[in-house]
Amino acid sequence: MTDKWTAVPYEGWSGGGCPAGGLARRSFFRGALAAGIVGAAGGTLGGLDLARTEASGGAQPGAGTIPFHGDHQAGIATDPQTVGAFASFDVTAADRSELADLFRALTARARFLTAGGTGPKPSPGAPPPDNGILGPGVVPDDLTITVAVGATLFDSRYGLGGRKPVQLVSMRPFLHDDLDPALSQGDLLIQICAKHRDTTVHATLDILAHTTGAMKPRWRLHCQRNPPRPVGIPRDWFGFKDGITNPDRTNTATMNKVVWVQPNTAEPAWTAGGTYQVVRIVHFDLEAWQKVPVAQQERIFGRRKVSGAPMYAVSDDASDTLDPIYTNDPQGLITALNSHVRLANPQTPETASTSSILRRSYDYERSPDEQGGLDLGHAFCCFQRELDTYIAMQTRLEAEALVPYISPRGGGYFFALPGVRDEHDYFARGLLA
Ligand code: HEM
Repeated sequence: MTDKWTAVPYEGWSGGGCPAGGLARRSFFRGALAAGIVGAAGGTLGGLDLARTEASGGAQPGAGTIPFHGDHQAGIATDPQTVGAFASFDVTAADRSELADLFRALTARARFLTAGGTGPKPSPGAPPPDNGILGPGVVPDDLTITVAVGATLFDSRYGLGGRKPVQLVSMRPFLHDDLDPALSQGDLLIQICAKHRDTTVHATLDILAHTTGAMKPRWRLHCQRNPPRPVGIPRDWFGFKDGITNPDRTNTATMNKVVWVQPNTAEPAWTAGGTYQVVRIVHFDLEAWQKVPVAQQERIFGRRKVSGAPMYAVSDDASDTLDPIYTNDPQGLITALNSHVRLANPQTPETASTSSILRRSYDYERSPDEQGGLDLGHAFCCFQRELDTYIAMQTRLEAEALVPYISPRGGGYFFALPGVRDEHDYFARGLLA
Protein backbone atom coordinates (compact mmCIF):
# COMPACT_ATOMS: atom_id res chain seq x y z
CA MET A 1 0.00 0.00 0.00
CA THR A 2 1.29 3.47 -0.80
CA ASP A 3 0.89 6.58 1.31
CA LYS A 4 -1.24 8.51 -1.16
CA TRP A 5 -3.90 9.32 1.37
CA THR A 6 -1.55 10.99 3.84
CA ALA A 7 1.11 12.61 1.74
CA VAL A 8 -1.07 14.78 -0.47
CA PRO A 9 -2.99 16.76 2.15
CA TYR A 10 0.03 17.30 4.33
CA GLU A 11 2.09 18.84 1.57
CA GLY A 12 -0.79 21.23 0.92
CA TRP A 13 -1.11 22.24 4.56
CA SER A 14 2.50 23.01 5.16
CA GLY A 15 2.97 24.71 1.81
CA GLY A 16 0.89 27.79 2.50
CA GLY A 17 -2.68 26.61 3.04
CA CYS A 18 -2.41 27.54 6.71
CA PRO A 19 -1.73 30.88 8.34
CA ALA A 20 1.78 29.92 9.34
CA GLY A 21 2.45 27.85 6.22
CA GLY A 22 5.79 28.36 4.54
CA LEU A 23 7.58 29.62 7.65
CA ALA A 24 11.29 29.01 7.64
CA ARG A 25 12.54 26.10 9.74
CA ARG A 26 13.57 28.10 12.77
CA SER A 27 10.64 30.47 12.60
CA PHE A 28 8.02 28.02 13.88
CA PHE A 29 8.98 29.41 17.27
CA ARG A 30 7.36 32.76 16.41
CA GLY A 31 4.07 30.90 16.02
CA ALA A 32 4.63 29.31 19.40
CA LEU A 33 5.10 32.68 21.03
CA ALA A 34 1.93 33.98 19.45
CA ALA A 35 0.18 30.86 20.64
CA GLY A 36 1.32 31.54 24.18
CA ILE A 37 -0.35 34.91 24.07
CA VAL A 38 -3.50 33.40 22.63
CA GLY A 39 -3.40 30.66 25.22
CA ALA A 40 -3.24 33.14 28.04
CA ALA A 41 -6.20 35.00 26.61
CA GLY A 42 -8.22 31.82 26.03
CA GLY A 43 -11.13 30.70 28.12
CA THR A 44 -13.87 33.01 26.88
CA LEU A 45 -15.84 33.01 23.71
CA GLY A 46 -17.82 36.17 23.08
CA GLY A 47 -18.02 36.71 26.82
CA LEU A 48 -19.20 33.15 27.47
CA ASP A 49 -17.41 31.32 30.26
CA LEU A 50 -16.24 28.16 28.57
CA ALA A 51 -15.29 26.52 31.82
CA ARG A 52 -18.98 25.66 32.12
CA THR A 53 -19.65 22.25 30.69
CA GLU A 54 -22.60 21.37 28.52
CA ALA A 55 -23.79 19.10 31.27
CA SER A 56 -24.38 22.12 33.47
CA GLY A 57 -27.22 23.12 31.14
CA GLY A 58 -27.78 26.15 28.98
CA ALA A 59 -24.23 26.32 27.66
CA GLN A 60 -23.46 26.79 23.97
CA PRO A 61 -23.09 23.64 21.86
CA GLY A 62 -19.46 22.62 21.84
CA ALA A 63 -18.73 24.37 25.12
CA GLY A 64 -17.83 21.19 27.01
CA THR A 65 -14.27 21.30 28.32
CA ILE A 66 -11.99 18.59 29.57
CA PRO A 67 -9.30 20.06 31.84
CA PHE A 68 -5.89 20.25 30.18
CA HIS A 69 -3.68 20.60 33.28
CA GLY A 70 -3.07 17.69 35.62
CA ASP A 71 -0.69 14.95 36.73
CA HIS A 72 -1.74 12.88 33.72
CA GLN A 73 -2.67 13.92 30.21
CA ALA A 74 -6.32 14.05 29.23
CA GLY A 75 -7.42 11.62 26.52
CA ILE A 76 -6.30 8.50 28.38
CA ALA A 77 -8.58 8.03 31.40
CA THR A 78 -11.09 10.31 29.66
CA ASP A 79 -14.29 8.62 28.45
CA PRO A 80 -13.67 8.21 24.70
CA GLN A 81 -15.16 11.05 22.68
CA THR A 82 -17.02 10.29 19.45
CA VAL A 83 -14.25 11.35 17.07
CA GLY A 84 -10.56 10.57 17.22
CA ALA A 85 -7.49 11.24 15.12
CA PHE A 86 -4.03 9.77 15.44
CA ALA A 87 -1.22 11.70 13.77
CA SER A 88 2.39 10.62 13.79
CA PHE A 89 5.30 12.97 13.05
CA ASP A 90 9.00 12.91 12.30
CA VAL A 91 10.69 15.63 14.32
CA THR A 92 12.87 17.96 12.24
CA ALA A 93 13.92 20.40 14.98
CA ALA A 94 17.60 21.23 14.47
CA ASP A 95 18.78 20.70 18.04
CA ARG A 96 17.64 20.18 21.61
CA SER A 97 16.78 23.83 22.12
CA GLU A 98 14.49 23.78 19.08
CA LEU A 99 13.00 20.55 20.36
CA ALA A 100 12.12 22.31 23.63
CA ASP A 101 10.58 25.12 21.57
CA LEU A 102 8.49 22.55 19.75
CA PHE A 103 7.13 21.08 22.98
CA ARG A 104 6.40 24.59 24.30
CA ALA A 105 4.52 25.38 21.09
CA LEU A 106 2.53 22.15 21.31
CA THR A 107 1.68 22.92 24.92
CA ALA A 108 0.50 26.44 24.14
CA ARG A 109 -1.70 25.27 21.27
CA ALA A 110 -3.16 22.35 23.25
CA ARG A 111 -3.82 24.60 26.26
CA PHE A 112 -5.64 27.14 24.10
CA LEU A 113 -7.56 24.77 21.83
CA THR A 114 -8.85 22.61 24.69
CA ALA A 115 -10.05 25.67 26.62
CA GLY A 116 -11.39 27.52 23.58
CA GLY A 117 -11.60 31.25 23.13
CA THR A 118 -10.88 33.95 20.63
CA GLY A 119 -7.50 34.55 19.05
CA PRO A 120 -5.79 37.82 18.28
CA LYS A 121 -7.33 40.09 15.66
CA PRO A 122 -5.62 39.78 12.25
CA SER A 123 -3.48 42.74 11.20
CA PRO A 124 -4.77 44.47 8.07
CA GLY A 125 -3.58 42.59 4.99
CA ALA A 126 -2.13 39.70 7.04
CA PRO A 127 -3.38 36.12 6.88
CA PRO A 128 -6.03 35.31 9.53
CA PRO A 129 -4.58 33.79 12.73
CA ASP A 130 -7.25 31.07 12.75
CA ASN A 131 -8.60 28.98 9.88
CA GLY A 132 -12.20 29.81 10.88
CA ILE A 133 -13.48 26.25 10.62
CA LEU A 134 -15.09 26.57 14.04
CA GLY A 135 -16.62 29.97 13.38
CA PRO A 136 -15.73 33.30 14.98
CA GLY A 137 -14.29 31.70 18.14
CA VAL A 138 -12.74 28.36 19.00
CA VAL A 139 -15.17 26.08 20.82
CA PRO A 140 -13.50 23.44 23.01
CA ASP A 141 -16.02 20.66 22.16
CA ASP A 142 -14.57 18.21 24.71
CA LEU A 143 -11.28 18.33 22.84
CA THR A 144 -8.28 16.45 24.21
CA ILE A 145 -4.78 16.56 22.73
CA THR A 146 -2.49 13.80 23.97
CA VAL A 147 1.21 13.84 23.10
CA ALA A 148 3.44 10.76 23.06
CA VAL A 149 7.03 10.13 22.00
CA GLY A 150 8.46 7.25 19.97
CA ALA A 151 11.73 5.36 20.49
CA THR A 152 13.37 7.15 17.54
CA LEU A 153 13.24 10.50 19.36
CA PHE A 154 15.90 9.03 21.66
CA ASP A 155 18.44 8.39 18.91
CA SER A 156 21.62 10.48 18.66
CA ARG A 157 19.93 13.70 17.38
CA TYR A 158 18.99 15.31 20.70
CA GLY A 159 21.23 13.53 23.21
CA LEU A 160 18.26 11.92 24.95
CA GLY A 161 19.48 8.31 24.70
CA GLY A 162 20.02 7.96 28.46
CA ARG A 163 16.50 9.14 29.22
CA LYS A 164 14.48 6.71 27.13
CA PRO A 165 11.65 4.89 28.93
CA VAL A 166 13.21 1.50 29.57
CA GLN A 167 10.73 -0.61 27.59
CA LEU A 168 10.23 1.80 24.68
CA VAL A 169 11.26 0.23 21.35
CA SER A 170 10.08 0.57 17.77
CA MET A 171 7.24 -1.80 16.95
CA ARG A 172 8.44 -5.01 15.28
CA PRO A 173 6.03 -7.00 13.10
CA PHE A 174 4.15 -9.81 14.81
CA LEU A 175 3.58 -13.14 13.03
CA HIS A 176 0.70 -12.09 10.76
CA ASP A 177 1.48 -8.39 10.40
CA ASP A 178 1.75 -6.71 7.04
CA LEU A 179 3.19 -3.40 8.19
CA ASP A 180 3.47 -0.54 5.74
CA PRO A 181 6.44 1.66 6.77
CA ALA A 182 4.51 4.74 5.59
CA LEU A 183 1.80 3.94 8.19
CA SER A 184 4.14 2.95 10.99
CA GLN A 185 6.30 4.41 13.80
CA GLY A 186 7.15 8.11 14.25
CA ASP A 187 9.09 10.35 16.65
CA LEU A 188 5.86 11.87 18.00
CA LEU A 189 2.26 10.76 18.18
CA ILE A 190 -0.53 13.26 18.73
CA GLN A 191 -3.93 11.84 19.59
CA ILE A 192 -6.74 14.35 19.07
CA CYS A 193 -10.26 13.49 20.27
CA ALA A 194 -13.44 15.57 20.42
CA LYS A 195 -17.18 15.44 20.00
CA HIS A 196 -17.15 16.50 16.35
CA ARG A 197 -14.88 15.96 13.39
CA ASP A 198 -14.56 19.65 12.48
CA THR A 199 -12.98 20.18 15.91
CA THR A 200 -10.32 17.51 15.39
CA VAL A 201 -9.57 18.76 11.87
CA HIS A 202 -9.36 22.34 13.13
CA ALA A 203 -6.97 21.31 15.90
CA THR A 204 -4.82 19.29 13.49
CA LEU A 205 -4.51 22.22 11.09
CA ASP A 206 -3.81 24.64 13.92
CA ILE A 207 -1.05 22.46 15.36
CA LEU A 208 0.53 22.00 11.94
CA ALA A 209 0.43 25.74 11.31
CA HIS A 210 2.25 26.47 14.58
CA THR A 211 4.93 23.81 14.30
CA THR A 212 6.03 24.11 10.68
CA GLY A 213 9.72 23.36 10.35
CA ALA A 214 9.99 21.51 13.66
CA MET A 215 8.03 18.38 12.80
CA LYS A 216 6.78 16.73 9.63
CA PRO A 217 3.65 14.56 9.29
CA ARG A 218 4.37 10.88 8.77
CA TRP A 219 0.92 9.23 8.91
CA ARG A 220 -2.47 10.00 10.29
CA LEU A 221 -5.85 8.39 10.72
CA HIS A 222 -9.20 10.05 11.36
CA CYS A 223 -11.64 7.72 13.07
CA GLN A 224 -14.87 7.50 15.03
CA ARG A 225 -16.67 5.56 17.70
CA ASN A 226 -20.02 4.23 16.65
CA PRO A 227 -23.12 5.05 18.71
CA PRO A 228 -24.50 2.29 20.97
CA ARG A 229 -26.75 -0.12 18.98
CA PRO A 230 -29.13 -0.27 20.70
CA VAL A 231 -27.59 0.51 24.12
CA GLY A 232 -24.34 0.26 26.05
CA ILE A 233 -20.92 -0.29 24.54
CA PRO A 234 -20.46 0.71 20.85
CA ARG A 235 -20.03 -1.98 18.20
CA ASP A 236 -17.02 -2.29 15.91
CA TRP A 237 -17.30 -2.99 12.16
CA PHE A 238 -17.52 -6.73 12.90
CA GLY A 239 -20.80 -5.94 14.69
CA PHE A 240 -19.51 -6.94 18.14
CA LYS A 241 -19.66 -4.77 21.25
CA ASP A 242 -16.06 -3.74 21.76
CA GLY A 243 -14.56 -2.25 24.91
CA ILE A 244 -16.60 -4.08 27.54
CA THR A 245 -13.86 -5.50 29.77
CA ASN A 246 -11.59 -2.63 30.70
CA PRO A 247 -9.95 -1.41 33.92
CA ASP A 248 -12.06 1.09 35.90
CA ARG A 249 -10.73 4.45 34.69
CA THR A 250 -12.19 6.21 37.73
CA ASN A 251 -10.35 4.01 40.25
CA THR A 252 -7.00 5.60 41.13
CA ALA A 253 -5.51 2.42 42.61
CA THR A 254 -6.41 0.45 39.48
CA MET A 255 -5.06 3.13 37.15
CA ASN A 256 -1.81 3.33 39.15
CA LYS A 257 -1.42 -0.42 38.90
CA VAL A 258 -2.35 -0.90 35.24
CA VAL A 259 -1.73 2.38 33.44
CA TRP A 260 0.36 5.14 35.09
CA VAL A 261 4.10 4.74 35.45
CA GLN A 262 4.93 5.18 39.14
CA PRO A 263 7.83 7.08 40.72
CA ASN A 264 10.83 5.17 42.10
CA THR A 265 10.77 2.33 39.61
CA ALA A 266 13.28 1.16 36.99
CA GLU A 267 11.92 3.91 34.73
CA PRO A 268 13.63 7.33 34.49
CA ALA A 269 12.14 9.73 37.08
CA TRP A 270 10.63 12.04 34.42
CA THR A 271 8.29 9.30 33.16
CA ALA A 272 6.17 9.13 36.36
CA GLY A 273 2.56 9.91 35.50
CA GLY A 274 3.00 8.91 31.86
CA THR A 275 2.13 5.62 30.21
CA TYR A 276 3.03 3.43 27.23
CA GLN A 277 0.66 3.91 24.29
CA VAL A 278 0.19 1.39 21.48
CA VAL A 279 -1.65 2.16 18.24
CA ARG A 280 -2.29 -0.56 15.66
CA ILE A 281 -3.99 0.12 12.35
CA VAL A 282 -5.86 -3.10 11.69
CA HIS A 283 -7.76 -3.65 8.41
CA PHE A 284 -10.87 -5.88 8.60
CA ASP A 285 -11.77 -8.31 5.81
CA LEU A 286 -15.50 -7.68 6.04
CA GLU A 287 -16.37 -9.43 2.80
CA ALA A 288 -15.02 -12.68 4.23
CA TRP A 289 -16.51 -12.00 7.68
CA GLN A 290 -20.02 -11.58 6.30
CA LYS A 291 -19.91 -15.16 5.04
CA VAL A 292 -19.20 -16.55 8.52
CA PRO A 293 -22.26 -17.88 10.44
CA VAL A 294 -22.97 -15.92 13.63
CA ALA A 295 -22.37 -18.94 15.87
CA GLN A 296 -18.86 -19.22 14.45
CA GLN A 297 -18.28 -15.47 14.74
CA GLU A 298 -19.17 -15.81 18.42
CA ARG A 299 -16.72 -18.67 18.87
CA ILE A 300 -14.02 -16.54 17.22
CA PHE A 301 -14.51 -13.63 19.62
CA GLY A 302 -15.68 -15.62 22.65
CA ARG A 303 -18.67 -13.35 23.25
CA ARG A 304 -22.29 -13.29 22.13
CA LYS A 305 -22.90 -11.01 19.15
CA VAL A 306 -26.29 -9.45 19.93
CA SER A 307 -25.94 -9.02 23.69
CA GLY A 308 -22.16 -8.84 24.06
CA ALA A 309 -22.49 -11.23 27.02
CA PRO A 310 -20.02 -14.06 27.77
CA MET A 311 -20.61 -17.33 25.89
CA TYR A 312 -22.40 -19.09 28.77
CA ALA A 313 -25.27 -16.54 28.53
CA VAL A 314 -27.49 -17.56 25.60
CA SER A 315 -30.35 -15.06 25.83
CA ASP A 316 -30.22 -12.03 23.53
CA ASP A 317 -31.24 -9.99 26.59
CA ALA A 318 -28.28 -11.17 28.70
CA SER A 319 -26.19 -8.43 30.21
CA ASP A 320 -22.78 -7.63 28.71
CA THR A 321 -21.60 -6.82 32.22
CA LEU A 322 -21.62 -10.51 33.25
CA ASP A 323 -18.10 -11.70 34.06
CA PRO A 324 -16.47 -14.14 31.63
CA ILE A 325 -15.48 -17.27 33.63
CA TYR A 326 -13.34 -20.08 32.25
CA THR A 327 -12.55 -22.17 35.36
CA ASN A 328 -15.33 -24.66 34.56
CA ASP A 329 -14.29 -24.83 30.90
CA PRO A 330 -10.67 -26.04 30.73
CA GLN A 331 -11.15 -27.61 27.28
CA GLY A 332 -12.75 -24.54 25.77
CA LEU A 333 -16.11 -26.17 25.02
CA ILE A 334 -18.02 -22.98 25.94
CA THR A 335 -15.42 -20.30 25.22
CA ALA A 336 -12.92 -21.61 22.65
CA LEU A 337 -9.29 -21.68 23.74
CA ASN A 338 -8.29 -19.78 20.59
CA SER A 339 -11.06 -17.18 20.89
CA HIS A 340 -10.03 -13.52 21.02
CA VAL A 341 -11.04 -12.86 24.61
CA ARG A 342 -9.61 -16.08 25.96
CA LEU A 343 -6.20 -15.53 24.43
CA ALA A 344 -6.17 -11.83 25.39
CA ASN A 345 -6.98 -12.78 28.98
CA PRO A 346 -6.76 -16.53 29.61
CA GLN A 347 -7.48 -16.05 33.34
CA THR A 348 -4.59 -18.31 34.36
CA PRO A 349 -2.02 -17.66 37.11
CA GLU A 350 0.77 -17.63 34.50
CA THR A 351 -0.90 -14.87 32.46
CA ALA A 352 -2.32 -12.77 35.32
CA SER A 353 0.42 -10.13 35.07
CA THR A 354 0.03 -9.71 31.31
CA SER A 355 -3.74 -9.61 30.93
CA SER A 356 -4.76 -6.08 31.82
CA ILE A 357 -4.47 -3.04 29.58
CA LEU A 358 -6.64 0.06 29.08
CA ARG A 359 -8.21 -0.15 25.61
CA ARG A 360 -9.35 3.10 23.98
CA SER A 361 -9.82 2.17 20.35
CA TYR A 362 -11.58 3.83 17.42
CA ASP A 363 -12.97 2.60 14.10
CA TYR A 364 -11.77 3.91 10.78
CA GLU A 365 -13.30 3.94 7.29
CA ARG A 366 -11.30 5.10 4.30
CA SER A 367 -12.61 3.12 1.36
CA PRO A 368 -11.73 2.48 -1.33
CA ASP A 369 -8.20 1.32 -0.71
CA GLU A 370 -5.44 1.13 -3.31
CA GLN A 371 -7.01 -1.96 -4.83
CA GLY A 372 -10.46 -0.38 -4.96
CA GLY A 373 -11.76 -2.52 -2.09
CA LEU A 374 -13.38 -1.76 1.22
CA ASP A 375 -11.00 -0.38 3.82
CA LEU A 376 -12.63 -0.46 7.21
CA GLY A 377 -10.90 -1.38 10.39
CA HIS A 378 -9.76 -0.63 13.87
CA ALA A 379 -7.44 2.05 15.13
CA PHE A 380 -6.65 -0.20 18.07
CA CYS A 381 -5.28 1.93 20.90
CA CYS A 382 -4.28 0.91 24.39
CA PHE A 383 -2.38 2.29 27.36
CA GLN A 384 -0.40 0.32 29.91
CA ARG A 385 2.23 0.87 32.57
CA GLU A 386 4.47 -1.71 30.93
CA LEU A 387 4.85 -2.10 27.19
CA ASP A 388 5.84 -5.74 27.80
CA THR A 389 2.26 -6.42 28.94
CA TYR A 390 0.95 -5.49 25.52
CA ILE A 391 3.68 -7.42 23.71
CA ALA A 392 2.93 -10.60 25.70
CA MET A 393 -0.79 -10.25 25.00
CA GLN A 394 -0.32 -9.60 21.27
CA THR A 395 2.04 -12.58 21.05
CA ARG A 396 -0.68 -14.82 22.51
CA LEU A 397 -3.14 -13.38 19.96
CA GLU A 398 -0.94 -14.61 17.08
CA ALA A 399 -2.79 -17.91 17.57
CA GLU A 400 -6.32 -16.47 17.60
CA ALA A 401 -9.11 -17.65 15.29
CA LEU A 402 -9.67 -14.04 14.18
CA VAL A 403 -6.37 -13.97 12.25
CA PRO A 404 -7.84 -14.69 8.75
CA TYR A 405 -10.19 -11.70 9.07
CA ILE A 406 -7.73 -9.00 10.18
CA SER A 407 -4.62 -7.49 8.69
CA PRO A 408 -2.47 -5.22 10.88
CA ARG A 409 -1.01 -2.60 8.54
CA GLY A 410 0.61 0.04 10.73
CA GLY A 411 0.86 1.94 14.01
CA GLY A 412 3.60 2.00 16.57
CA TYR A 413 4.73 2.07 20.18
CA PHE A 414 4.91 5.40 22.01
CA PHE A 415 5.25 6.82 25.49
CA ALA A 416 2.44 9.23 26.42
CA LEU A 417 4.12 12.02 28.38
CA PRO A 418 3.18 12.89 31.97
CA GLY A 419 0.58 15.65 32.28
CA VAL A 420 1.26 19.39 32.04
CA ARG A 421 0.79 20.43 35.67
CA ASP A 422 -0.03 24.15 35.35
CA GLU A 423 0.40 27.20 33.16
CA HIS A 424 4.17 27.30 33.88
CA ASP A 425 4.73 23.70 32.83
CA TYR A 426 5.05 22.27 29.32
CA PHE A 427 5.07 18.86 27.59
CA ALA A 428 8.32 16.93 28.14
CA ARG A 429 9.80 19.49 30.53
CA GLY A 430 11.08 16.67 32.76
CA LEU A 431 12.53 14.82 29.78
CA LEU A 432 14.42 17.88 28.57
CA ALA A 433 15.53 19.20 31.99
C1 HEM B 1 -7.97 -5.12 15.97
C2 HEM B 1 -8.93 -5.93 16.10
C3 HEM B 1 -9.63 -6.20 17.40
C4 HEM B 1 -10.95 -6.36 17.54
C5 HEM B 1 -11.99 -6.26 16.46
C6 HEM B 1 -11.20 -6.59 18.93
C7 HEM B 1 -12.46 -6.83 19.44
C8 HEM B 1 -12.70 -7.23 20.75
C9 HEM B 1 -13.98 -7.61 21.26
C10 HEM B 1 -15.26 -7.65 20.46
C11 HEM B 1 -13.83 -7.95 22.55
C12 HEM B 1 -14.91 -8.48 23.50
C13 HEM B 1 -15.65 -7.41 24.24
C14 HEM B 1 -14.83 -6.60 25.18
O1 HEM B 1 -14.48 -7.03 26.29
O2 HEM B 1 -14.48 -5.48 24.79
C15 HEM B 1 -12.44 -7.73 22.88
C16 HEM B 1 -11.88 -7.93 24.10
C17 HEM B 1 -10.57 -7.73 24.40
N1 HEM B 1 -9.58 -7.42 23.52
FE1 HEM B 1 -9.79 -7.04 21.54
N2 HEM B 1 -10.03 -6.58 19.61
C18 HEM B 1 -9.03 -6.34 18.70
C19 HEM B 1 -7.68 -6.25 18.97
C20 HEM B 1 -7.12 -6.42 20.21
C21 HEM B 1 -5.72 -6.32 20.49
C22 HEM B 1 -4.64 -5.99 19.46
C23 HEM B 1 -5.58 -6.53 21.83
C24 HEM B 1 -4.32 -6.54 22.65
C25 HEM B 1 -3.17 -7.00 22.23
C26 HEM B 1 -6.90 -6.76 22.38
C27 HEM B 1 -7.16 -7.00 23.70
C28 HEM B 1 -8.41 -7.29 24.22
C29 HEM B 1 -8.67 -7.53 25.62
C30 HEM B 1 -7.65 -7.47 26.76
C31 HEM B 1 -10.02 -7.83 25.74
C32 HEM B 1 -10.77 -8.17 27.02
C33 HEM B 1 -10.51 -9.60 27.39
C34 HEM B 1 -11.19 -9.95 28.69
O3 HEM B 1 -10.59 -9.70 29.75
O4 HEM B 1 -12.32 -10.47 28.62
N3 HEM B 1 -7.80 -6.69 21.37
N4 HEM B 1 -11.78 -7.31 21.76
